Amino acid sequence: MPLKPWSGRFTQKTDKLAEEFNASISFDRRLYKHDIMGSIAHAKMLAKAGIITKKEADKIVGGLKSIEKEIDASKFVFTYDLEDIHMAIEKRLTEKIGPVGGKLHTARSRNDQVALDIRLYLRDEIKEIQNLIKNLQKTLVDVAKKNLGCIMPGYTHLQKAQPILFSHHLLAYYEMMKRDYERFEGCYKRVNVMPLGAGALAGSPYPLDRDFVANELGFDKPTDNSLDSVSDRDFCIEFCSAASLVMMHLSRLSEELILWSSHEFDFIELSDAFSTGSSIMPQKKNPDVPELVRGKTGRVYGNLFSLLTTMKSLPLAYNKDIQEDKEALFDTVDTIKKCIKIFSPMLQTMKINKERMLDATKGGFLTATDAADYLVKKGIPFREGHHIIGKIVAYCIKTSQGLEDLSVDEWKGFSKVFDKDIKKAISVEASVDNRKVKGGTALEAVKKRLKEIERALK
Ligand code: ARG
Repeated sequence: MPLKPWSGRFTQKTDKLAEEFNASISFDRRLYKHDIMGSIAHAKMLAKAGIITKKEADKIVGGLKSIEKEIDASKFVFTYDLEDIHMAIEKRLTEKIGPVGGKLHTARSRNDQVALDIRLYLRDEIKEIQNLIKNLQKTLVDVAKKNLGCIMPGYTHLQKAQPILFSHHLLAYYEMMKRDYERFEGCYKRVNVMPLGAGALAGSPYPLDRDFVANELGFDKPTDNSLDSVSDRDFCIEFCSAASLVMMHLSRLSEELILWSSHEFDFIELSDAFSTGSSIMPQKKNPDVPELVRGKTGRVYGNLFSLLTTMKSLPLAYNKDIQEDKEALFDTVDTIKKCIKIFSPMLQTMKINKERMLDATKGGFLTATDAADYLVKKGIPFREGHHIIGKIVAYCIKTSQGLEDLSVDEWKGFSKVFDKDIKKAISVEASVDNRKVKGGTALEAVKKRLKEIERALK
């Protein structure tokens, strides 16, 4: 059993249960590359500041690099007694290069070290997640372009409201993803500051060059307050919050895919490759993938709340509670990456039942607003027009007809301003086509937005 780094002050060994309870090595080992990267920069800075010699720094850097290789090759033995990845690597370093390894931790605490590691780790993950988001945006654009003419019912209150282009509906999710991307951009800015040099909490008595370390590791700048540096986990919470919004968006789209693939809607069919069957009901084809994305949204929200709650009454500066940041963070990273990743191929391979969608726009009075707008064009105030069309809808319900079934004479019975052209004015095609306003569903407006989007995605 190796001695603890703090064993000088202790006379008793750590209880076995306490040791396991205390340890974070089972999950923070994922930070090893970033821990080593940070240590290398720290060692170089120590030499530059004359705190250790250049020769010692070289030895340390060499040792760290070979430890990285050991871990890469799964040859590194992780044990609870070394508590966390920081101590495990430091211990191995001394085994490999001798007592000089013990100089690495000069002017550093695990408190600023772990803050650095998480920031380095999260920077990489944010970039990767942003790429995944971009990829999903491209897929949304792709599917929107392939189905440009496809008309479907648009809903409010999940009641048919007005006809829209299916592409317009998909591009609404593009806009959500665009904001998600930007949120990670903002988050990255606050992640990208360098906490090393804060020491345990109060800063360091050594002549450290914090700018050098920041520069070496590609950070924008060193942090400005040592207490804040070791106890700030805002950036983790912010990340989990941005991730929660991504999940909320994916969950809404999931919900739509689930509804649309039901027999009742029948607007789409997910590919067999992204569906599953039932072990008892032979006829079933279930949308498990979007259901699971919807379900996993709960755990990502949970992670956000767990972090907020962990941090909410911690006095400054570092408290061991903060060790609880990692599992919530890692689980969030893993979950949203998986969910974003699976969406693209699922959307690319789904079948779109264009006829069914168009069919669903019929008979439900979806163009009643257009009929009211027709009256407005003939000089009738909108409120009055709204009332007249309301009467017509009631008449249609009584006589079991759709608006499109009414004869011109029937229209005229409700207002003398109706003419033959009402037939065209209330067609779903005209309804869609008329909404040319910026951000509207007309083919012309959607094509224009697509052009802008494609330019932005390049
Ligand atoms: N394993 C710890 C964590 O993840 C590292 C920092 C420990 N610091 C300390 N003073 N015990 O937060």
